[in-house]
Amino acid sequence: MSDPKHTEQNIQDSEAVFPEHKAPSIRRVMMPKDTNAVGTIFGGTILAEIDLAAATEAHKSHAGMVVTVSMDKIDFKAPVYVGDLVSFFTRTSRVGRSSITVHVSVWAQRRFGGGAHAYVTEAQVTMVAVDTNFHPIPVDSLSK
Ligand SMILES: CC(C)(COP(=O)(O)OP(=O)(O)OC[C@H]1O[C@@H](n2cnc3c(N)ncnc32)[C@H](O)[C@@H]1OP(=O)(O)O)[C@@H](O)C(=O)NCCC(=O)NCCS
Repeated sequence: MSDPKHTEQNIQDSEAVFPEHKAPSIRRVMMPKDTNAVGTIFGGTILAEIDLAAATEAHKSHAGMVVTVSMDKIDFKAPVYVGDLVSFFTRTSRVGRSSITVHVSVWAQRRFGGGAHAYVTEAQVTMVAVDTNFHPIPVDSLSK
């Protein structure tokens, strides 16, 4: 069920509408192992998937190793429940010398994919291309 307080007016971002024609970088059903002490999905589970989704997106720009250097402030706007189908949509927002910044938006479809979509959160994640000594190296843009 969607959070009734979560209207387009009070979402301050550009991802206010579920991007149904876009393929998510990650999509998975939340399981009981993903819960916190009160029975909803643990925020850390969502953060880990955001990190993975950002790395997946970063590999469109850089084939080699990337590490996470930064994840901006994250506000959770709606809870996620066991059985929700959660989608992590990504887009590259900036490519620097060695860094790739990825925008990730997170949506939960209630209960096994048949229900309403709830906007959960979004994040800006910066990944850095590194060599085998974990030193920054230039991004090799695969699109060039
Ligand atoms: C990522 C890391 C190699 C960068 O090293 P560094 O000495 O900060 O390197 P630099 O100062 O040259 O910065 C490299 C790039 O990262 C960017 N960067 C560094 N810190 C940043 C931050 N806090 N937020 C956003 N970007 C940042 C820089 O702007 C630079 O981007 P550019 O090359 O596109 O201009 C180093 O900080 C590190 O190893 N961090 C740990 C990464 C990790 O293990 N992550 C998983 C944690 S469990």
